[in-house]
Amino acid sequence: MNRAASSTGDVLADAFGRPLRSVRVSVTDRCNLRCQYCMPEDDYAWLPRETLLSFEEINALVGLLAECGVEKVRLTGGEPLLRRDLPTLIRLLRAQPSIHEVALTTNGVLLEEQAQALHDAGLQRVTVSLDTLRPDRFHALTKRDAFDRVLKGIERANAVGLRGLKIDTVVIKGFNDDELAALIEYGKTVNGEVRFIEYMDVGGANDWAGEKVVSMGDILARLERDCGPAAPLPERGSAPARRFQLADGVTFGIIPSTTTPFCAACDRSRLTADGFWYLCLYAKHGLDLREPLRMHDAEAVRERIRSGWRRRVDRGAEERKQLEFTHTRGRLIEIDELRQDPRLEMHARGG
Ligand code: GTP
Ligand code: 5AD
Ligand code: SF4
Repeated sequence: MNRAASSTGDVLADAFGRPLRSVRVSVTDRCNLRCQYCMPEDDYAWLPRETLLSFEEINALVGLLAECGVEKVRLTGGEPLLRRDLPTLIRLLRAQPSIHEVALTTNGVLLEEQAQALHDAGLQRVTVSLDTLRPDRFHALTKRDAFDRVLKGIERANAVGLRGLKIDTVVIKGFNDDELAALIEYGKTVNGEVRFIEYMDVGGANDWAGEKVVSMGDILARLERDCGPAAPLPERGSAPARRFQLADGVTFGIIPSTTTPFCAACDRSRLTADGFWYLCLYAKHGLDLREPLRMHDAEAVRERIRSGWRRRVDRGAEERKQLEFTHTRGRLIEIDELRQDPRLEMHARGG
C-alpha cells in the first residue's frame, strides 16, 4: 500500500489516506453462544462492570467520532442483544444528524423477542450469523441448543419489517462447506442476502488452521457447480463483501478477508464496551477514550481521535496474509496474553 497524504482537505485521513467513516460498537463482551471460531472457551477474563460505558457515554463518543467523519455505526458484541434496553441506545444514535446508518450484527438467539422494539427504535439494517441449517451441526459449533430460536428470530425480523437483512456464514472446510447452496435457498425464503465469510485468524482462541479456510475461489466454484453461473456485481467502495448474482436474480456475497484482504480501503474503527478505540480488527492496542470522556474533556477525546487516526498505519489482514509466505502464520495472540487483556479477543471488539 502506498503512503498518501495524512489528510485530504477537511476529511480526516490516516497515514495511507483512508478516511474514517465507520465505527463498530461492541456493547458487551458477553455472548450466549460459544462458536468455535470466535469464543470457544466457557469462561474468559471479562471486562470489569464499572468500566463499561453507559448508553449516554457511547452516544457521546459516537457524536465525537461523527465530528471526525464517522457516519455508520454497527452495534456488535459479544452478543449485542444481551445488553439490556438496546433500543434506547439505537434511539439516541438515530437522533444524531451525522449518523446516516445504524446497523446491528447479532447471533439471532434473542431476536424473536426484541425484533419489534428494535424496529420501532429505528434500526436500519440487521445481520444475523447463521453457519448451518442442521441443528446437530449448530450445536457442535456453538455448544448451545438455540438453532430454532435463531430461525424464529430471523422470521420475526422479517415479519416486523426490519430491512436490509443479511445472513453471515463463516465457511469452515469439512464442517459446513456442503451447505452453501442450501443456505442461499434459505436466504431466499427470508429475504436475506447470504454472505460467505472466509475463516479468519483473529483473536487467540479461535481454533483457526489454514487447512480449515475455504477460499473465495473455492466457495465460488462450489456455488457455480450447484447453482449455475454467478456474475460479479460492481464493488461498493469500502464494503468487505464481493457480491454476485445468480441467473434467477438472487444475490450473495463473499467476504474474503483471509485470502484477499480489503485493508487498502478500510474506513472502519471499533469501540470496545469499556471505551477503548481500536483502529484495526487485528490491532493489539486501543486508544483509551473513556478516561478523557469521564473527565468531561471532550476536546481531549477529539484530539485522541484525530491524532490516532492520522497516525494509523494498520493493515492487519494484509500483514497476516504476508506471514503465509514465510510459513509463520500461527496463533495471533497467545492465551496468557489474552488473559491479561480481554480486549484482544474478537468478541470484545466486535466481529
Ligand atoms: P456492512 O458493510 O455494513 O454490511 O457491514 P459488515 O459487512 O462489516 O458487517 P458484518 O458485521 O456482518 O461483518 C461481516 C464480516 O466482515 C465479519 O464477520 C468479518 O469477517 C468481516 N469483517 C468485519 N469487520 C472487519 C474488519 O474490520 N477487518 C476485516 N479484515 N474483516 C472484517
Ligand atoms: N472468522 C470469520 N468470521 C468470524 N466471525 C467471528 N469470528 C470469525 C472468524 N474467526 C464473524 C461471525 C459474525 C461476525 C460478527 O464475525 O460469524 O458473523
Ligand atoms: Fe481494516 Fe484492519 Fe480489517 Fe484490514 S484487518 S480491513 S485494516 S480492520
